[in-house]
Amino acid sequence: MAAENILPEHFTTEKMDRLFLVTALITTCWAVPRDLSGKMFTFPKESDTDHVKLWPKAENYTSVTVCLRYFTDVKRSYSIFSMATPTSTNDFLLFKQINSDLELHVRQVGSTFTGLADEKNMWNAICGTWDSANALIQIWINGKPSVRKLGYKGSVLHGKPIIVVGQEQDTYGGKFDKGQSFIGQLSDVHMWNYVLSPCEIQRFTSNLNYTPGNVLNWRSLEYTIYGLVIVENKQTFCQE
Ligand SMILES: *[C@@H]1O[C@H](CO)[C@@H](O)[C@H](O)[C@H]1NC(C)=O
Repeated sequence: MAAENILPEHFTTEKMDRLFLVTALITTCWAVPRDLSGKMFTFPKESDTDHVKLWPKAENYTSVTVCLRYFTDVKRSYSIFSMATPTSTNDFLLFKQINSDLELHVRQVGSTFTGLADEKNMWNAICGTWDSANALIQIWINGKPSVRKLGYKGSVLHGKPIIVVGQEQDTYGGKFDKGQSFIGQLSDVHMWNYVLSPCEIQRFTSNLNYTPGNVLNWRSLEYTIYGLVIVENKQTFCQE
């Protein structure tokens, strides 16, 4: 009788453990990091809704580098990377102007960079950096550096970030403007909480061995898609 009592009890505990594990997996599934190597986000239409939120692995940054690749034919202004915190909607913003100039905003302090050529209907590599040690900001397009300019003079970008691609945040996590939305493809989105050396930026640009982002890593990315954004393989010229 005693042996019979122990067995069912043991069985039940094991079954409940398994049930708990399965439930935990289902409820946290959306936040599981995914490897997006060789893939891209496709934003196929203009809207003030379609976007992807990227969930960072760290917060409170004393320096920042963001690198990604984009492919578009948009002529008007558009957002490339929009990070907001509760106290600053443009905490780290890469933005393309209608005249092709690029803007980098850090904690609401924005600068314009002129004469950096990217190409329409081609993959372009962009990196933006901010260093709290000297408050300097810089942009790199396809391996070519911009002027180094004075940006936000502060020691840390603090607060829980909301990072959006596809739209530009005018409030913390929202108030998108269709006239600033991104249409086209994005890939290889990485973010570091330090400034990459010029060599590392060149390695990212050439897609050679580079250290993936420790804040956002395209090879292990937690993200949530809102609206129509398609994750698909990057196209090569010949795919069979
Ligand atoms: C980031 O900074 C905020 C405000 O200074 C603080 O409340 C929060 O705990 C910090 N987060 C981390 C992960 O250190």
